[in-house]
Amino acid sequence: MEFKRSDFPEGFLFSAATSSYQIEGHGFGGAGKTHWDTFAATPGNVVRAEHGQIACDHYHRFEEDLDLAAAMGLDAYRFSTSWARVMPEGRGAVNAEGLDFYDRLVDAMLERGLKPQATLYHWELPVALADLGGWRNPDIAHWFADFATVIMERIGDRMFSVAPINEPWCVGWLSHFEGHHAPGLRDIRATAHAMHHVLTGHARAIQAMRALGLGNLGAVCNFEFSQPVDDTPEAVKAARTYDGYYNRFFLGGLFKGAYPSDVLEGLEPHMPKGWQDDMALIGQPLDWLGLNYYTRKVIGPNTGAWPSHDYLEGPLPKTQMGWEIYPEGLHYFLTWVHEHYTGDLPLFVTENGMSNADRLGRDDVERIAYLDSHVAAAKLAIADGVPLAGYTFWSLLDNYEWALGYEKRFGLVHVDFDTLERTPKASYHALSRALAA
Ligand code: FCB
Repeated sequence: MEFKRSDFPEGFLFSAATSSYQIEGHGFGGAGKTHWDTFAATPGNVVRAEHGQIACDHYHRFEEDLDLAAAMGLDAYRFSTSWARVMPEGRGAVNAEGLDFYDRLVDAMLERGLKPQATLYHWELPVALADLGGWRNPDIAHWFADFATVIMERIGDRMFSVAPINEPWCVGWLSHFEGHHAPGLRDIRATAHAMHHVLTGHARAIQAMRALGLGNLGAVCNFEFSQPVDDTPEAVKAARTYDGYYNRFFLGGLFKGAYPSDVLEGLEPHMPKGWQDDMALIGQPLDWLGLNYYTRKVIGPNTGAWPSHDYLEGPLPKTQMGWEIYPEGLHYFLTWVHEHYTGDLPLFVTENGMSNADRLGRDDVERIAYLDSHVAAAKLAIADGVPLAGYTFWSLLDNYEWALGYEKRFGLVHVDFDTLERTPKASYHALSRALAA
């Protein structure tokens, strides 16, 4: 790596992230079924119909995994708690084994000097709630706040930070408009409802955690740089629309008490009745904002219904996901969010990393270069005055990459999905040297 820890301010946190469904093994420990299990069981949704029943078997191997995180020299570990593991039906009965698991997991982090950075929901909705409409149902905000209370009554005393929901855009748009993620809908009314309720859910969970006395509460949003395919007004408008529903909608709700008008142009007719009355609730004060950043999209106009655009193939080098490598976008978003939305609020890069067709014995030089260029973009943002307080790599382990199954490898640690053996990659070793320096 070109960077070293001493390039960053005192107290700057380096961490790595995972999420529950992607690594734990949902077949273990009395977890309820999630909508990812049923989505994956439906042919055509997930590569080879792969699911998270075993995943990385982190449920049984978390001590070894946290040993790896600590040995790398990380300061913190970003993990998520599964709603369906804690409350198998989503409401009511609590699975004691599930709570015990997170209790042990958090203690194991602290024993190794890793600060726990929790996310309450990283997409594993209990099926009983999916049956009731999931994020389309306004009541989910209350169900989710109850879950927040149950899990944080148990582990909240040991959290470094907590965010309710990982990437509202994926929960709302990707899952209800594009149908790429569970529940696999393609419906604009479902999308508008889910995009709004993901924010009311966020807000009620924040309130519930404040009521328990928790501090350092934030939100984690994902961002993609929106590049018009050319400089025609049509292409510029198309890219602006993409930027609106991807990057500005959720920030508008969280920090400005209003959704952007160019997004409402498309979504307003489909929004839940009385949505305006929720905007004050949605703007709960936060202690930090996390940004997940991976890539940019090249956007061109089409003559179809709103949002009237296509994603086009871009010219830049790409990762195994087919995602263009564009570190300038990370610098752009850190400075733009700071200037236009968050002011003095601390920012964190809560996810950044690349998938690569890694094989054991082959050095992942591409990942080292990717991480180096993105960390450099973050360093530049700090030099420009952005109050960036930490950087989290996605991901500690190769894991279940959702609809793309186990083939897309984002890990700093290689996982053999037959034997479940863990082997640190060259990028792991490079980071550990950079963090020690
Ligand atoms: C993010 C998700 C994470 C992983 C990475 C590659 O959108 O939060 O679970 O899938 O992308």
